[in-house]
Formats: sequence, structure tokens, C-alpha cells
Amino acid sequence: MKILLIGGSGQLGRAILARWTGEILAPSHETFDINDPAAIATIDGFDMVVNCAAFHNVDTCESQPEAAFATNALAVDRLAAECHERAVTFMTVSTDYVFDGRKGAPYVESDCPHPLSAYGVSKLAGELLVERRNMKAFVVRTCGVYGTNASRSKGTFIDRVITQAKNGEKIRIVNDVVVSPTYAGHLAEAMRKLLDTEAYGLYHVCNAGAVTWYEFAKKALELAGIDHPIEPISSSEWKAAAVRPAYSALASEKLGALGITMPTWAEGIAAYLRDKAS
Ligand SMILES: NC(=O)c1ccc[n+]([C@@H]2O[C@H](COP(=O)([O-])OP(=O)(O)OC[C@H]3O[C@@H](n4cnc5c(N)ncnc54)[C@H](OP(=O)(O)O)[C@@H]3O)[C@@H](O)[C@H]2O)c1
Repeated sequence: MKILLIGGSGQLGRAILARWTGEILAPSHETFDINDPAAIATIDGFDMVVNCAAFHNVDTCESQPEAAFATNALAVDRLAAECHERAVTFMTVSTDYVFDGRKGAPYVESDCPHPLSAYGVSKLAGELLVERRNMKAFVVRTCGVYGTNASRSKGTFIDRVITQAKNGEKIRIVNDVVVSPTYAGHLAEAMRKLLDTEAYGLYHVCNAGAVTWYEFAKKALELAGIDHPIEPISSSEWKAAAVRPAYSALASEKLGALGITMPTWAEGIAAYLRDKAS
């Protein structure tokens, strides 16, 4: 099994590299830019192409929709086309931000998307461009990804909460935004199992359950053995360029039907803390 992994230096990409077996080639962004059609045209000799690359600074996407569409939609379409032509299996990753949050309950795959942000629109366009080809492809929607190899210098949300608590700082976290935060390690493992099913299509792959960021942060401190208060605040106190859904928890319904179960969001935190410490 020879796999081309795009976005291998990111949180999810690194979790895949740490867990999947087989021959995996993971070129850097510099050597393989998905916005470069000439690079994409060279993807010969692989059995699978897995795309974890994205332009996913949600606020920047608002002012740079062309760049968002280039990476999240048009490049994904070109990758899918090259895979389809070679009968290569393709997997690409999408987002909970394709939903508007009005459902107020975990979204399943059959729910109608309605993105609120340029980022969400660009990711949905990427999904649809793949799906229209009716090819050997998986589109994996996930939510609130955090991994032990976060490339961003700030670290993950959990890291920041723990650091602030250890420093005795005041911590304020929104308590009216509901999500399904997902540990990259669990996501990577489920994606591998999904690839083996050959049951192509759209899937929600998240740690199970719905939680506010405030509840999530509280559980992270509890599991880290840290006793420190967190003040719950409203998202109206948190200004950002892009509008985000107030409720974007996802239920991994189709995955469950295949017999692949996801650990809960609390188990995700525990696994993250364990893996980070090892
Ligand atoms: N993080 C979340 O909370 C979240 C939530 C829902 C869905 N997702 C989706 O999950 C996927 C993985 O996210 P992640 O958190 O692992 O992201 P990440 O840590 O930012 O990693 C993104 C990876 O893509 C690479 N990349 C970016 N633009 C590229 C391009 N034009 N060509 C080639 N490589 C490029 C980056 O390389 P450089 O760093 O070198 O640029 C990096 O290796 C994305 O599709 C994202 O939209 C993420």
C-alpha cells in the first residue's frame, strides 16, 4: 500500500504518520503545493492520496476568499480529478463549519449544510467538487482537531488552558458554543479503518458527544490534575471576522453503521494527555 499524504506536517498529518503503517510519502508544503497543478499532475505510483492540507485560518478566509477557494475547493477538485483518472482512492478532510448551527443537536451526514463563513463555503465547495465525480473517494468532516504535534507555536487549546492555569492566570472560556472536539490520534485511527472499508462517501469523524468549550476546558484541567477556576463567558464577548456556528457538534452516524466507534471527547482529552506525556 503506497500512500501520498498531503499536509503531513500538520496536526492531523503527523498523527497519521505516527499511526498508519505502509509506505507513506509526505512531501512538505514547500515541495508539494496543492495549488500548483504541475505538482499535482505528478502523483503517479500511489494506491491512495490523503489530503490533510487546507487554508483554514477561518478569519483570514473572510478577507481572502480567493485563496480559500484555491486551496480548499479548486486544488481539492484537481487532486480528485488526478486520482479518478488513475483509479486511485482519494480521501480529503472537511469541517463542521459547513453547518449554521441552527439544528441545535449533533449534525449527521444527511443534514443540509449551510455555511456561515467564507471558509465553510470553500470547504463545502471542495466536498461537492469531489462528490460529483462519484469516484473512489472519502470526504471526512471533523471538528475542533487537536494533536500532540500541533505545528502552531501557541500549542493546542488544551495546552493554553493548562499553561494559563499553571501560571495562575484568569481563564475565561465561551460556554455557549457547542462542538465535538476531536483528538487527532483518534481521528487518524478512524480514517485508516474507514479507508479499509472501501465504503466511499461522506463521513463525520469526531470524538463522540457534544460539549461547550468551557466544559471541555474544565474537563481538561480535571484530567490534568489541576484545580483552577474557569469563568464561563458568552461568545458575544469574543469578536472575530468570521461568523461561526454556535452549535457544530457532529455525530459519526455513518461511521457507527460500519462498526467503527469513536471514543468520547473526554476520552480524547485523556488520550491526548497520555500521548503527550509519553
Ligand atoms: N484544526 C481544526 O480544528 C479543524 C477542524 C475541522 C476541520 N479541520 C480540517 O482538518 C484538516 C487538517 O487540519 P489540521 O488541524 O491538521 O491543519 P494544520 O495543522 O494547519 O496542517 C495543515 C497542513 O497543510 C499544509 N498545507 C497548507 N496549505 C498547503 C498547500 N497549499 N499545499 C500543501 N500543503 C499545504 C500545512 O503545511 P505548512 O504548515 O508548512 O503550511 C500543514 O502541513 C484540514 O482540512 C482542516 O480544514 C481542522
